[in-house]
Amino acid sequence: MLTARISCVFFFVAILSQGGSTQDTDEEYNGKYIGKLNTYHHQIAGDVYAVDEYTLLLTSFSYDGTGADTFFWAGATNHPGPQGFIVPDEFGKTNVLDRYLNKDFTLTLPDNKKITDIKWFAIYDLSNQNTFGDVNIPDEFDPPSPQRISQLSKRSHGVTSEAIIILDAKTISIPAFYYDGLGNDTYFWVGVGPQPSTTGSKVPDEYGYLDPLRHYKGEDIVIQLPGEMTIRNINWLSIFDVATKSNYGSVVIPEGLNVPPSLVKVVKHVEALPNCVQLHKNYQVSWEIFGPQITIQLSGQIKEDEYMAFGLSGSEERSQMEGADVTVAYVDGARGYAVDYNITAKAPCGKTLGQYKGVCKDELVGGLDSNQMYTTVRENGISIISYRRTLISSDSGDKVYPTDRPVYVIWALGRLDENKEPNFHDFYPKSDLKLELNRQEPHSTCTDFTMSSRKFREIWEKSDIFDRSIRTFKATIGPSGGKRGYQGITGQTSMGLAWYINGQLIPELYLRRGLTYSFRVHGGNNPHSANLYHPLIITDEPHGGYDRLSDRAQNQVRVLAGVEFTRRGRPRPTAVGPLCLSKHEGRDRRLDDDFLTFKKFNRTLVYTCEEGEGGLLEVTPNSSWPDTVWYNSFTHANMGWKIHVVDEYMRVSSKGALTITTSFLTTVVIFLFFRVI
Ligand SMILES: *[C@@H]1O[C@H](CO)[C@@H](O)[C@H](O)[C@H]1NC(C)=O
Ligand SMILES: *[C@@H]1O[C@H](CO)[C@@H](O)[C@H](O)[C@H]1NC(C)=O
Ligand SMILES: *[C@@H]1O[C@H](CO)[C@@H](O)[C@H](O)[C@H]1NC(C)=O
Ligand SMILES: *[C@@H]1O[C@H](CO)[C@@H](O)[C@H](O)[C@H]1NC(C)=O
Repeated sequence: MLTARISCVFFFVAILSQGGSTQDTDEEYNGKYIGKLNTYHHQIAGDVYAVDEYTLLLTSFSYDGTGADTFFWAGATNHPGPQGFIVPDEFGKTNVLDRYLNKDFTLTLPDNKKITDIKWFAIYDLSNQNTFGDVNIPDEFDPPSPQRISQLSKRSHGVTSEAIIILDAKTISIPAFYYDGLGNDTYFWVGVGPQPSTTGSKVPDEYGYLDPLRHYKGEDIVIQLPGEMTIRNINWLSIFDVATKSNYGSVVIPEGLNVPPSLVKVVKHVEALPNCVQLHKNYQVSWEIFGPQITIQLSGQIKEDEYMAFGLSGSEERSQMEGADVTVAYVDGARGYAVDYNITAKAPCGKTLGQYKGVCKDELVGGLDSNQMYTTVRENGISIISYRRTLISSDSGDKVYPTDRPVYVIWALGRLDENKEPNFHDFYPKSDLKLELNRQEPHSTCTDFTMSSRKFREIWEKSDIFDRSIRTFKATIGPSGGKRGYQGITGQTSMGLAWYINGQLIPELYLRRGLTYSFRVHGGNNPHSANLYHPLIITDEPHGGYDRLSDRAQNQVRVLAGVEFTRRGRPRPTAVGPLCLSKHEGRDRRLDDDFLTFKKFNRTLVYTCEEGEGGLLEVTPNSSWPDTVWYNSFTHANMGWKIHVVDEYMRVSSKGALTITTSFLTTVVIFLFFRVI
């Protein structure tokens, strides 16, 4: 296979701040302006905005960094003075401030204090009680906050909701959303003008899909406006059927809402190739046919260990994985790959009865790699890979790219395993997708990528249980904690519940081979409960939910503990126990993302346990166990996390240095050592 080094010749990728230099003359919306920092010493400069009730945004902030004991400082007295409190810096730390030059960042007031609780914000030196710069919070200041507007008007197809909440300039929450899902070409649709019309644009659904909307049964969902669009650019939101031009229900977005700005970054992406289709909020394919060849460019907002797949469907009638001819593309370091695959089964490539089956490289199944790598870019969290192939390949196993008719395609985004083979896909088409490859007039539906706000990328600190003296684990069930919790920590989707081990949310466990450990399982013992029956299992793959897998998929999984097989060969869980469940009590689940730490989140939960001892799962890892295994639920996927199976309790730090955590002291000494440096 040919690979090309990173080349920027064909692409122009630039990060623009939301609402930045667009054709729209709309000036950038940073929230509500508080004022310019007054400068007294040390070259303080900058502007201060309120992003929401708790958060300040500093723009173009400068400070020479030479104060000895200087902090961000705020208080409720009339003027800055010793009575106040430290406002943690942009990293949430309360260290003495360093130098800043023209920086933009947000600061969150500590302990849920509100901007309306303070009268000033300052850059202040504590030891000599000197104010270097400050700004006053005006009396009666009304910081931006999420705004409730009306509910969706009932028109047809069962569309209703509770009052819609504009969370920020790009984010719309639709509580208790109902829609019967029967429209054929129906989307979240926004636009300008007095009422919903076909001249609008699609908004990706709550998972970023652009497929027609499914059936919703009173769910609380959150959608984000695409590209640079903000609520200031639209007048209405509709559930709109484009095929029949009908509005099934809509809401008017009032002007001038005092909502928080969106701090989402917009990555401007100018396509190199004339045809482009947005497959998902985070994924686009563009192409050009020239002579006997097609050039395809895949652009995805993905992590470095993820892949983008795209290709021709295995069926002439629909988008189907089995039988498909696809390319799996990814960036590895500075190299890009676009590998030709053949899909014979919905499973990772494996050998059954001497034959390769599953998602396998063409080269493994007797074919050729027909792709020619062209260019690779990895920038701003976006991988862009282009490759070429002939429309009619010399490999007879490949599919022909038709130029005389539309063709069904398939796509996926997912993770690569350790061997850089595509694993379980996280995103894939929810409905059939047909593309006309050889259009007279090139056509593009692609929008800019939006990067999730920093707020959401700050996940809760990962926890682990790395203690040779702990041999018993209590496994209970609790809420998975939104984007900062399970989803953020594991990168996997969540069904809303997750394992808590000894009171921690999905800690990574360390078990030593040869030692025996007991799990006391409190996952519920009523097999008829749809979502509160969770026997604990340990397997060699990260998802669990063993009971729901097909026989074929079960055969791919190695169960290490928690499942026995009946005489008929049916799996039966062994570690079943009464339910211990922690719950949000009276608090809106949508606020999960607002908690900065699991500890704070945990304090809002109410724990209830049914009577009785937990089901017992006893394990003694031995040399046949892989180094990483996963604890999960027997019934539902994605509720648990990693177990490191070790021969010794040794920790390898991320920098590659080996630390033996025999004692707390060692850690302290190492820590001090680095502080001194
Ligand atoms: C969707 O398409 C089917 C088949 O073409 C048609 O019978 C049905 O009426 C359509 N539904 C709507 C809501 O237009
Ligand atoms: C893909 O697998 C199918 C079924 O085994 C086979 O017919 C086809 O030729 C294969 N394609 C390639 C490129 O090898
Ligand atoms: C979470 O709360 C429970 C019950 O109050 C407590 O036992 C547990 O230790 C807490 N976990 C953490 C990590 O704070
Ligand atoms: C190792 O552990 C596995 C799974 O727990 C068990 O099936 C196997 O018998 C054990 N092997 C040895 C040599 O003890």
